[in-house]
Amino acid sequence: FAPFAARQPANRWSTDMADAEELKRAAAAKALEYVTDGMRLGLGTGSTAKHFVALLAERVAAGLKVTGVPTSEQTKAQALSLGVPLATLDELPELDLCIDGADEIGPELALIKGGGGALLREKIVASAAREMIVIADETKTVATLGRFPLPIEVVTFGVEAIKLRLKGAIATAGCDGELKLRHKADGKPFITDQGNVIVDAHLGRIPDPRALARALEEVAGVVEHGLFLGLARRAVLAGANGISVITP
Ligand code: 5RP
Repeated sequence: FAPFAARQPANRWSTDMADAEELKRAAAAKALEYVTDGMRLGLGTGSTAKHFVALLAERVAAGLKVTGVPTSEQTKAQALSLGVPLATLDELPELDLCIDGADEIGPELALIKGGGGALLREKIVASAAREMIVIADETKTVATLGRFPLPIEVVTFGVEAIKLRLKGAIATAGCDGELKLRHKADGKPFITDQGNVIVDAHLGRIPDPRALARALEEVAGVVEHGLFLGLARRAVLAGANGISVITP
């Protein structure tokens, strides 16, 4: 990691971005060490997972035999384009390992996921795996979850009514904040791979993630939320001083 610290940027912003990509790639490369021949792998979504899929493809080209189950159409397209063998979760309902990124990593490896909008498939695939490893740059770790808006996937019917119920549910878990329907850059609502929409809950702080998860799951119209609790067994974190692997 010495090169990161040593580099004297001409353009600080673009160099920081490049460094962030290097850190994500370093975490992905470390996670690849947990992959062995014959594994059935859940393939995550997002920029960190994208590095993992690219590195995995290099190993596949060199002879590694694995089958991937992608967590999004985006990851599916990338893996197919790079020659990573794929199956559906119906074909492979039990997986050995799932490798995915996260938006926030809190105590006990509680995660917020869904910044890329793939939380539903990501949670189904992670739940089907014997182990989930989360990969990230270390800036994703927090003492308390909630700074990153919590994505909540809801059906398209009655979104305003669902939001009102969500507001109440969130209050029962000791949280408060704005709920915003996610939009794409063109101003149209963001539609997930499963045809739903996402409400981002800007909570700032989630004092009791389990209580919030339970409360959200009781709201009619909620398909899934981005709290991943008790799913990740390991986090591979890359920072300026190197890689650390942490367990709950
Ligand atoms: C997508 C996700 C991603 O894993 C999460 O948003 C992290 O993405 P990135 O690696 O680009 O920071 O949950 O739904």
